[in-house]
Amino acid sequence: MSDLDSTDPCLGIVGLGYVGLPLAVEAAEAGLHVIGFDTDESIVEGIRAGRSHIPDLDDEQVARLCGDGRLEVTVDDTRMAECDALSICVPTPLSKTRDPDISFILSATHAVARSLRPGQLVVLESTTYPGTTRDVVLPALERSGLKVGEDFFLCFSPERVDPGNVRWKTRNTPKVIGGLTPACLEAGMALYRRFIDTLVPVSSTEAAELTKILENMFRAVNIGLVNETAIIADRLRVDIWEVIEAAATKPFGFMKFVPGPGLGGHCIPVDPQYLSWKMRTLNYRTRFIELASDVNSEMPHFVAGKVREALNLIRKPVSGSRILVLGVAYKRDVDDVRESPAIDVMRVLEADGAEVSYHDPYVPAVRDDSREWRSIPLDEGLGHADAVVILTDHSCFDYQAILDRSRVLVDTRNATAGLSTMSATGHPQRWIVKAEKAQ
Ligand SMILES: NC(=O)c1ccc[n+]([C@@H]2O[C@H](COP(=O)([O-])OP(=O)(O)OC[C@H]3O[C@@H](n4cnc5c(N)ncnc54)[C@H](O)[C@@H]3O)[C@@H](O)[C@H]2O)c1
Repeated sequence: MSDLDSTDPCLGIVGLGYVGLPLAVEAAEAGLHVIGFDTDESIVEGIRAGRSHIPDLDDEQVARLCGDGRLEVTVDDTRMAECDALSICVPTPLSKTRDPDISFILSATHAVARSLRPGQLVVLESTTYPGTTRDVVLPALERSGLKVGEDFFLCFSPERVDPGNVRWKTRNTPKVIGGLTPACLEAGMALYRRFIDTLVPVSSTEAAELTKILENMFRAVNIGLVNETAIIADRLRVDIWEVIEAAATKPFGFMKFVPGPGLGGHCIPVDPQYLSWKMRTLNYRTRFIELASDVNSEMPHFVAGKVREALNLIRKPVSGSRILVLGVAYKRDVDDVRESPAIDVMRVLEADGAEVSYHDPYVPAVRDDSREWRSIPLDEGLGHADAVVILTDHSCFDYQAILDRSRVLVDTRNATAGLSTMSATGHPQRWIVKAEKAQ
């Protein structure tokens, strides 16, 4: 029997990032006693002081839950023994060679294993390849001598949080869950039923793991398709956004995706590679994933090409030009720059000899392996830029003012739609919105 039927179960959340902290807050709001664990002391201290480092959560809510003792946070993993259930929400990045790096899952699992006790439920939430829960997490936990499905319970339940989404939050987004045994699934359902509106049980942990990757693969492939169609439309001198809007009027069988400077974020560019890696071990090549990844990773070069073309229209070389990038976060209204294509675009333009600066109200600084850029004030940037490139369409930008003050404007998000009807090239294709010589 799991300990989740008690009136006041204690839930441990391991990893307090974009996934873990909202989950901890939702569970605490529902009345569970939550202990959040993180290896990063600054994150723990910040939360303890009532500060949320996740933009979707406000400080007051975090401070209130910490204040009334519903949410405790710590770096001390020996306290995992106090928890009736533990949910692992640690990062699953790629290694330098773009293979899965499951070292965070391993270290979190080992910490959980050290204090595993009868009755505990362990749930892996980190996105990973099918088989991780059974082949990696289970053996580490069973080394304790306890038996899954009898002494302790193990599930995989992927997180679907969409940072910045105001409609779909942790509580109202249906949650898929698979258990190692029927008793494990039952224990997992008993936990999440307390603070998630809709649960979607599946028959195995592998089915739950593959469900999450299918969702992200679906987005990566469709974004790849629309990005390639954008390149095709550009060659044909057709306005891709007009085509997408027209196609989206079909009431069935079409789903709208939009082109952009490339894939970003911690999930879509990364998760399908977990499946590719797994399938390589089974001698199978995941062709759709590879093709989408090829097309999507070409987009920063396509955008840099558009900047080159725009400067060419006013007879200026890229080399020596001052280029202002607007938005470096991977998507609108978030502060997350993980895998952001903006960094690739800036790198390509700098390699061409441009002086690149950026403005992003959400991101004070970004760095790649070799250097750091700092956000400059918008007014200063617009004042001296030879060309402006909109890479992230934050809703706080005043696009009319940006259009008015730019000499050359490349818009990769169609953020200036409605402000201009004809692109600067004279063709209705919109990427190059404006190209005017300085007076
Ligand atoms: N960010 C998203 O939008 C999103 C959406 C769905 C799924 N996911 C998946 O959820 C998982 C977590 O992603 P995230 O965005 O929350 O990551 P994150 O980097 O924002 O947070 C992870 C946290 O885990 C902590 N951590 C690392 N190792 C630890 C350990 N051994 N013990 C305790 N804490 C540890 C880190 O310090 C960090 O605070 C990943 O697998 C990701 O693919 C993310």
